[in-house]
Amino acid sequence: MSTNTPHAGVAVVAARAPLEIIQVPDLKPAEGQVCVEVHWVGSTPFDLHQADGGLRVEPPQILGDTAVGVVVKSGEGVEHLKIGDQVFGFLPPVHKQPSQQEFITVPAHLLGKHTLTTSACLNFTLPFPKPEKYTPSDANTPILVWGASSSVGQYTLQLLKYYGYTNVPVTASKRHHQLLRSFGATETFDYTSPEDIHRLEALLASESQNGRRVNVLDNIGSVQGSMEPLARITPPGSLVAVLWPVIKVHAEEDIAPEFTLDTQGVVNWKEGVKTVGVSTHSYEANELRKRDLQPLIMPELLAQGIITPNATRIVEGATLLDRAQSAIDILRRREVSGERLVWRMKQA
Ligand SMILES: NC(=O)c1ccc[n+]([C@@H]2O[C@H](COP(=O)([O-])OP(=O)(O)OC[C@H]3O[C@@H](n4cnc5c(N)ncnc54)[C@H](OP(=O)(O)O)[C@@H]3O)[C@@H](O)[C@H]2O)c1
Repeated sequence: MSTNTPHAGVAVVAARAPLEIIQVPDLKPAEGQVCVEVHWVGSTPFDLHQADGGLRVEPPQILGDTAVGVVVKSGEGVEHLKIGDQVFGFLPPVHKQPSQQEFITVPAHLLGKHTLTTSACLNFTLPFPKPEKYTPSDANTPILVWGASSSVGQYTLQLLKYYGYTNVPVTASKRHHQLLRSFGATETFDYTSPEDIHRLEALLASESQNGRRVNVLDNIGSVQGSMEPLARITPPGSLVAVLWPVIKVHAEEDIAPEFTLDTQGVVNWKEGVKTVGVSTHSYEANELRKRDLQPLIMPELLAQGIITPNATRIVEGATLLDRAQSAIDILRRREVSGERLVWRMKQA
């Protein structure tokens, strides 16, 4: 329900047009909802897909799916949050409350209590809390994490380590290899080095010859940057999970991006390779994750130091619009490396 007091939001008004500030009505929280004053937001590749590619955009479309802020109003029936709590949130677009606005009114289960910003990308069926002495039955199965220095890759790696996976080769630029080893990478390969890719291919082939199915998590989903090299080196019968959307053409200043959801037909996989597209925005489809992921699991993973948040790069700018536009420009220039872009809604 609208209270008619407007607040500012950062919006896409047309694909590849400069962002604009628009006024949005405040919403009164209904049962199970809270209103949060947004202090910080993270800018992710999804913002660029929306700003330049029109992905899930209905102009004027406010941007953003991650936020940190303070609860300022609460509806009936909210148990784990109260007014004044500092919270972080991961906001699937289906709720139509994107983060890059001064206030969001959302179901309380989308929020957790912690002061750190995170881009949660958990898609696991592993038990939480982890039972004592838990070891997965397939602990030594090879899981290649392609693009491990990405935000999603860093979290995936740390969770695999926590749950006891012991055969986790990764690709990333060389400068991130040491950090990624501390997060659980068992072998590191530079995806820009043909020699490294050759070594990785040999490793995967030997795993497959030893009768182990190779599993791959492609955190990049770029036809040229990850899927074509993966199609060349992934042995027959492997399973490849790709983070949607598949990027056929990258956004450039003068080039519109192109996406597809087709993970199987877009490159020539070897015989019997199965692919699947992954969407973190639909995590609420699983009742347990819907209930527990943000309120319980994420704060616990952070508090116990099981996962370390991404390094952050603060995007500065004199106005809200300057900061929002700069973040999009940095993403478009593909300057993000092992870090999450974050910026303030209000200048300090
Ligand atoms: N479907 C979903 O629910 C969902 C959720 C989150 C993300 N995504 C998608 O997943 C992708 C990654 O998202 P993110 O937020 O994790 O990205 P990010 O952190 O912004 O990604 C930047 C990283 O990508 C790495 N990278 C770029 N090109 C690469 C390549 N060809 N091979 C290997 N690594 C490469 C860079 O590695 P170096 O610095 O090591 O060079 C850099 O650290 C995006 O396309 C995003 O849209 C989808």
